[in-house]
Amino acid sequence: MKGLTLPKITLPFIKSQNLSIGLDIGSHSIKVCELAQSGSGYRLLSLGSTILPQNAVEDGILQDPDAVAQSITALVSNLKLQGKKVSISVSGYSVIVKKINLAVMSASELESHIQSEAEQYIPFDIDDVYIDFQDLKTNTEENDRTDVMLVAAKKDVVDGYLTMLRSVGLKTVVVDVDAFALENAYGANFGIEDNVALVDIGASKMNINIITGGSSILARDVILGSRLLTEQIQSKFDISFEEAEAIKVGQTPPGDKKKELADIFMATCAQWSTEIKRALDFYSSNYPDEPISKIVLSGGGAKVKGLCEFFQKETGIPAEIFNPFVNTNFNDKKIDSEYINFIAPEMALSTGLATRPVVV
Ligand SMILES: Nc1ncnc2c1ncn2[C@@H]1O[C@H](COP(=O)(O)OP(=O)(O)OP(=O)(O)O)[C@@H](O)[C@H]1O
Ligand SMILES: [Mg+2]
Repeated sequence: MKGLTLPKITLPFIKSQNLSIGLDIGSHSIKVCELAQSGSGYRLLSLGSTILPQNAVEDGILQDPDAVAQSITALVSNLKLQGKKVSISVSGYSVIVKKINLAVMSASELESHIQSEAEQYIPFDIDDVYIDFQDLKTNTEENDRTDVMLVAAKKDVVDGYLTMLRSVGLKTVVVDVDAFALENAYGANFGIEDNVALVDIGASKMNINIITGGSSILARDVILGSRLLTEQIQSKFDISFEEAEAIKVGQTPPGDKKKELADIFMATCAQWSTEIKRALDFYSSNYPDEPISKIVLSGGGAKVKGLCEFFQKETGIPAEIFNPFVNTNFNDKKIDSEYINFIAPEMALSTGLATRPVVV
């Protein structure tokens, strides 16, 4: 397993006994997943989600902590969650992820080097950020330099989450980065052998993360989420956001709007596809010998009908929906398998967080 933990520095690759509760606080909804280890896989203890009031979370920043706290309290109580230790992740403008190349050093030398030199790598005042790093150990016999993954996250943003979670009785044991949590979710289910493009389409953003040999080669956030579709439907037909959302997700039949809706969907899907192709082109020009074997889609936006087929046609690479429960068993008397199938794409990130141990 791979991942970063802010603000406390921790080491990954630890076989754990107790896993934390994965809590994905998105801009549209909060997703919760609780797993236990079971042989070489996992057992699903509980999962659920709740929609947030609009604008409560924007660009990864907690804008309305009270509203988010209320939603979490309701979710925790509905799911009867017993655990109190949670892992969350951050993304957006307040987070910087950077791969730097350094001479090989001992762990303690690396720590002091990063602390004293971090400012040359990140555009924030060092006192304003939590920093974490991980030596990717890419050095070889011929090359004594190694890649180090460096992450900096704004203290005020992270502290906002920690304070809000503390106010509802939860203790945050891991603060990860969205892209790494998704990568961990993929690795926990499918291993780290393949070269894949993970694409998460949420409400407000799309994250593209290309993984080769277990390591992220390119991670990119594009401010182009599924909410855009709702807003376009809303303005085209002069209806409320809620009405537009119901049409988008198929709760309200399209009626005579079919043709216009198809045009709206097509335009946004084409924008998503352009961004994916751009990332894939960049990747293939740098790694011509390591072709991407598949595009793996997650997030609520991945549920747009026909999206996999569309991306597949546009890129020439097979595309599939991420099922983060491939390596997870569950009691189907307690958890409805239809619900799991329905919610699986949105749950990917929270399952990655739920694989993080409580004690690290
Ligand atoms: N069938 C569907 N077709 C299109 N969009 C859908 C469908 N089902 C859900 N969505 C959209 O997916 C989005 C929610 O997905 P998700 O829970 O992944 O977002 P989020 O994590 O809250 O947002 P973000 O990661 O951008 O902050 C909403 O915009 C919702 O309307
Ligand atoms: Mg999300």
